[in-house]
Amino acid sequence: MKSICVLPGDGIGPEVIDSAVKVLEKATDQLEFVHADIGGAAYAKHRSYLPDETFDLMKTCDSCLFGAVTSPDGPDQGSPVLRFRKELDLYANVRPVRTLVEVPNRPSIDLVLIRENSEGMYTQDEVFDDGGVTTRRRVTRRASERIVRFAIEYAKLNGRQKITCVHKSNVLRASDGLFLSVFREAMNSKGAGLKSEEQLVDSAAMKLVVEPRVFDVIVTLNLYGDILSDVAAGVAGGLGFAPSGNIGPKHSVFEPAHGSAPDIAGKGVANPTAAILAGAMMLKHLGLTRPASNVEKAVADVYSTGHLTVDIGGRHGSRSFTDHVIGVLEGGKRQ
Ligand code: IPM
Ligand code: MG
Repeated sequence: MKSICVLPGDGIGPEVIDSAVKVLEKATDQLEFVHADIGGAAYAKHRSYLPDETFDLMKTCDSCLFGAVTSPDGPDQGSPVLRFRKELDLYANVRPVRTLVEVPNRPSIDLVLIRENSEGMYTQDEVFDDGGVTTRRRVTRRASERIVRFAIEYAKLNGRQKITCVHKSNVLRASDGLFLSVFREAMNSKGAGLKSEEQLVDSAAMKLVVEPRVFDVIVTLNLYGDILSDVAAGVAGGLGFAPSGNIGPKHSVFEPAHGSAPDIAGKGVANPTAAILAGAMMLKHLGLTRPASNVEKAVADVYSTGHLTVDIGGRHGSRSFTDHVIGVLEGGKRQ
């Protein structure tokens, strides 16, 4: 049995995570779920967006499934997401984005974005002075090597052909230049069999929109990965299409890449696809490969039979979409 810490969070988080848990329960009997508070609900009870009880559970469970939180305002409370990424050493953020249903006027996409998840623009090292604020952005050889090697391993394990390093070394010569040279070195020494490409982040953004099929695996720095994963999700149909895994040597947290979307919370219309697919990524990470691919196939099947949620012009709500996925799984074999 594997223990999963379930962190529904705020806004649509609880709705999409509820869908994901129902699907996972149908796909396998190898998981045991423990629920914990994070975000606004946690703050109301414990005066903390990431209470110690929750954090301890995240550390002791085999993996975590997280919904979304509404980022707290004010300097006293940092984002719980950034805190758990840092303190659990979740250095790789893996975001596969794939077209599941044709969207009018948008090209099809099938790529995996691998985002450095520990430094870059996310050091939150900001210094005030009389004239304004200076943000210190950090790029280290160690973190660059870790993420590039991760991307190479990932590409090989998942039958991908090409890795594109996305950077801005024409301007950030020293820092992005370091990232790029680490990429070149690692591809030379460990990337046998993989095609290697390099792309400036601005032109990569444009290509993602016009001809996303030129990408297979992207490896990039933290903030570029944050932005480009939303662009890629948009091409596939919207933020409901990007699952994500935060992975470290010991711990892992899987989440939909979207936020808490307070405007549609509680209405039953949120698209749970990214949360369900994040659940499938978690199964795979835990070695439950058969149920993982059953979930992925069930989701693809529901899309191919035209059961669409309202965000992409369908008429199904979160529950009805989830019931369809479960229906397909019930037709298949349970493990
Ligand atoms: C994401 C989110 C987070 C990020 C926020 C919530 C801090 O946008 O996971 O992409 O910027 O990484
Ligand atoms: Mg983001």
